Amino acid sequence: MNLSRRTVIASTAAAGVAATALGGTAEASSGRRPVKTLFGKLADGTKIYSWALENGGTRLKVLSWGGVVQSLELPDRHGRYANVSLGFDNIEDYVAKTPYFGALIGRYGNRIGKGQFTLDGKKYQVNVNDGVNSLHGGIKGFDKHVWNVEPFVKGSDVGLYLHYTSVDGEMGYPGTLKVKVTYTLTKRGEWRIDYEATTTKATVVNLTSHVYWNLAGESSGTIEDHELTIAAARYTPTDSGLIPTGQLAKVSGTPFDFRKTKAIGRDIRAAHPQQVQAKGYDHNWVLDKGITAKPVHVATLRDPRSGRTLKIATDQPGLQFYSGNFLDGTLTGTGGRTYRQGDALCLETQHFPDSPNQPSFPSTVLRPGQTYRTTTIHTFDA
Ligand code: BGC
Repeated sequence: MNLSRRTVIASTAAAGVAATALGGTAEASSGRRPVKTLFGKLADGTKIYSWALENGGTRLKVLSWGGVVQSLELPDRHGRYANVSLGFDNIEDYVAKTPYFGALIGRYGNRIGKGQFTLDGKKYQVNVNDGVNSLHGGIKGFDKHVWNVEPFVKGSDVGLYLHYTSVDGEMGYPGTLKVKVTYTLTKRGEWRIDYEATTTKATVVNLTSHVYWNLAGESSGTIEDHELTIAAARYTPTDSGLIPTGQLAKVSGTPFDFRKTKAIGRDIRAAHPQQVQAKGYDHNWVLDKGITAKPVHVATLRDPRSGRTLKIATDQPGLQFYSGNFLDGTLTGTGGRTYRQGDALCLETQHFPDSPNQPSFPSTVLRPGQTYRTTTIHTFDA
């Protein structure tokens, strides 16, 4: 059975029992103002809130900590809800041991080689937190800060404005960066992310969202049977530290070819040297469409069992497909079960890793007077 969005909205009440059992957001009804509840407190007493949003059949819970998507519930083809995003049920785990579950990533999504780059003739050393390299903005990236959250209802949309100001020199990056991220749930149940930033000095910026998807439901096991399509004829191979070599390699004839829909598990053990090095897929796909003025559809993920489908549209030139290689069974998720390798995957829309050191890659430089603006839209179906 193929449920249209309209049917899903109508069946939300009927699915209420399942939703409650899953800790669903029964309090936030369709199109209504987001509901704020206390999620926990930081060691210094700062209160961290959870915001529950619901629209068009999609249910989202967002934390003021790191802009984290703590839960994202979607109906399957029978209208049964499941949380399809890995996470924790308590703030302590988000502070102490999260591998960026659901978080906003900045200032620089993915890696910068040795944490070094030169901008306008000046050398910068940013925080190094992944061997010799800098990953996702350094040890205290945007995922580890309290964001200022403001709810909104605009016509048929509901959402949150998330603000964070990163001061000049934070994690070694130049310029005070004012960031505004807008999470919108549309009446069709799409989750749209609009990123905006301005700076007081020339700097580099690459913002993204780090949701770990398992469309069968978090804690349900491997994503190897999920089917993936990526509209990209090339990807950026890396060195052993996962820094791009600068080459734009063809996916054709390799396990990296997702131009035709295939199950993730089909080629994940193909022993391609790039996979052996990364322990699976952990690469940036060079999207065929390049940078676009408006978001364009670039990837589709589908769980054949539940029918849940995610489509991603972006204006960005790259997509990091990470197959959850470093999940090692040591973290216990929202559902009370441990997460193991391949229990989720990330699809991070972005500029290419290490762009500040790769003159041939699209630029990530932001200058005073310019506004960084990018949009990614997630469309769901079952
Ligand atoms: C990176 C992985 C990294 C993960 C962090 C991904 O975006 O590509 O290499 O391990 O984030 O959990």
